[in-house]
Amino acid sequence: MSKNINILWASMGGTAEGVADRLNDKATKMGFTTNQQELNDVTMGDFSKMDNVAIVTSTTGEGDLPTNGEDFWLDLKESNNSLKNLKYSVCALGDRSHDTFCGAGKKVDARLVELGANKVLERQECDGSDEGSDQWGNLFLEKIKTLQ
Ligand SMILES: Cc1cc2nc3c(=O)[nH]c(=O)nc-3n(C[C@H](O)[C@H](O)[C@H](O)COP(=O)(O)O)c2cc1C
Repeated sequence: MSKNINILWASMGGTAEGVADRLNDKATKMGFTTNQQELNDVTMGDFSKMDNVAIVTSTTGEGDLPTNGEDFWLDLKESNNSLKNLKYSVCALGDRSHDTFCGAGKKVDARLVELGANKVLERQECDGSDEGSDQWGNLFLEKIKTLQ
């Protein structure tokens, strides 16, 4: 049976969305079953049932999630669901000219750790572009392929 990967993203200007799109293409070519969704379309009920999750989010405001991820973040902050079955990694987009570099991805990552999720690959932080995101995506897919 093919493995399932959930690619969950939030983006203001489309860069993070592009990263998610490319990861989806790659995963499909590798034989994964994929589910790509905007973060705000994911309920905590759905999220706690997911097994493999790639989160791609840019940062807006001052370390905030994009509008299409803000509701998810508010729910995640309040949630007490155990996420011990979740295997995940975060690709955080931002720009070092801002005080809270990659703040959105960093706070989602920290909350997932608090809820017991398993970080299978260190967070990728992209500075001013999506450079590094394709390599991160490839490593994540390889990692998920080899894990039970
Ligand atoms: C209004 C605005 C606020 C931003 N705030 C931050 C921030 O607080 N921290 C950060 O690291 N990057 C910040 N950025 C940079 C974006 O996260 C970065 O350009 C990213 O690549 C945009 O991705 P997107 O097109 O998917 O939204 C900000 C950009 C804009 C336009």
